[in-house]
Amino acid sequence: MEIITKIKEMQKKSQSLREKKKEIGFVPTMGALHKGHMSLIEKSKKENNITIVSIFINPLQFDDQEDLKDYPRVLEKDLKICEKLSVDIVFIPSKEEMYPKPQLTFVRVERLSDNLCGLFRKGHFQGVATVVTKLFNITKPHRAYFGAKDFQQAQIIKKLVEDLNFEVEILVLPTIRDKDGLALSSRHKYLTAKEKEKAKLLYHALMKGVSLLEKDIKDSKIIIEEMEKVLKKEPLIKIEYLKVCDPNFLTDLKEVSNTALLALAVKIGKARLIDNILWRNR
Ligand code: PAF
Repeated sequence: MEIITKIKEMQKKSQSLREKKKEIGFVPTMGALHKGHMSLIEKSKKENNITIVSIFINPLQFDDQEDLKDYPRVLEKDLKICEKLSVDIVFIPSKEEMYPKPQLTFVRVERLSDNLCGLFRKGHFQGVATVVTKLFNITKPHRAYFGAKDFQQAQIIKKLVEDLNFEVEILVLPTIRDKDGLALSSRHKYLTAKEKEKAKLLYHALMKGVSLLEKDIKDSKIIIEEMEKVLKKEPLIKIEYLKVCDPNFLTDLKEVSNTALLALAVKIGKARLIDNILWRNR
């Protein structure tokens, strides 16, 4: 496994791999790798000749400097996971390497960034879109892999690829959950055992929404109220949002017809957790 820390070296490497007709799969991460990331890496290994994983905690996408300071940093452990999964290249640039001078150029995907997490994390998706654009230009992948837990992020990246004509295919893989349905997240490191136990209500709330839709209850207000009741059983859970959205435009739906994204964000103790389920009429 090769470890590259410099942009120029990574670009040269990817360019030469492309010239040798190697297909490059790319998994961008901020480290603290878990089974969700592992599933993306495994898929990339299957579909490409070369898999590149980046580990970079991107300061541009943190609206809360405390969260940035506390974000888990476990590089040794991450490298062991990459090694075990036979990752070919790990790209680990420093902050100074990625942003040597004040960044004056930003990528902003309009509309899709406005609702859901965009309402609460100002500048977050601009930070994500900007760093992902930079990482695509550095690693030059044929395919890039993202998790469906960050549904809004994945939609924004698909749109930026379309609008800016990147020659990269975006693949979005299912959320990996633990046995209680809790979506895996690097932010679980902030939870106490008790908080983690309560966090399974997030999945229960989403499943409540799904069960109502399956019973042909399509009024979003009713669905949201019922999901809220599930979360409010636990005072440790502070709701940020509960939404029923159009999955393509990420706008709020009053009434569901054939498909809907049920999405939520909460705070539990020090952790902000998000989750979603995409419902389709069968
Ligand atoms: O999902 C993440 O971990 C980050 O938002 C990403 C895509 C690596 C960009 O920093």
